[in-house]
Amino acid sequence: MKEPFRADMEMIRRRAREKMDQGAVTSAYRADREQVISVLNEVLATEIVCTLRYKNHYYMCRGVHGDTVAEEFLQHAREEEQHADQVARRIAQLNGVPNLNPEGLATRSHAEYKDVSELEEMIREDLAAERVAIATYSEIIRWLGDDDPTTRRMMEEILAKEEEHADDLANLLQDLGSH
Ligand SMILES: [Fe+2]
Ligand SMILES: [Fe+2]
Repeated sequence: MKEPFRADMEMIRRRAREKMDQGAVTSAYRADREQVISVLNEVLATEIVCTLRYKNHYYMCRGVHGDTVAEEFLQHAREEEQHADQVARRIAQLNGVPNLNPEGLATRSHAEYKDVSELEEMIREDLAAERVAIATYSEIIRWLGDDDPTTRRMMEEILAKEEEHADDLANLLQDLGSH
């Protein structure tokens, strides 16, 4: 059987009162905070680039299938923006600074921003970006392990949404192909 849960309450209470200015970060935080913040800033850049790419595609899509696809692009853009907000909030909670500097944004991002004009090309670009995000976020989740469960849970939630996005896009591509 597992060992019963036991905590040195006296020590935890004392440590909680030392470094109160560190807010949510206590001595029980096992991850390398600086490294987590820097990885989260890359995720933040990725989410912003994805938001911008989807917005561009939303305004630029034309043609017979334009309307249905546009709605999908807009919904994805909004969800990527929500991810960016979640990640920025977590960075601040970890006493880091969310990097929202437009300079270097594309370099910090895992996903790419390319200008394309054809509807099908747009969907392909978005699908590629989602697949990059899925691969890197999965790695981040494995890397976090049990060291920062809150960040891991957030990343798992975001990953699930990116998988949904990739699935939506694959279905759109299929629909286009069958017409
Ligand atoms: Fe996202
Ligand atoms: Fe996505």
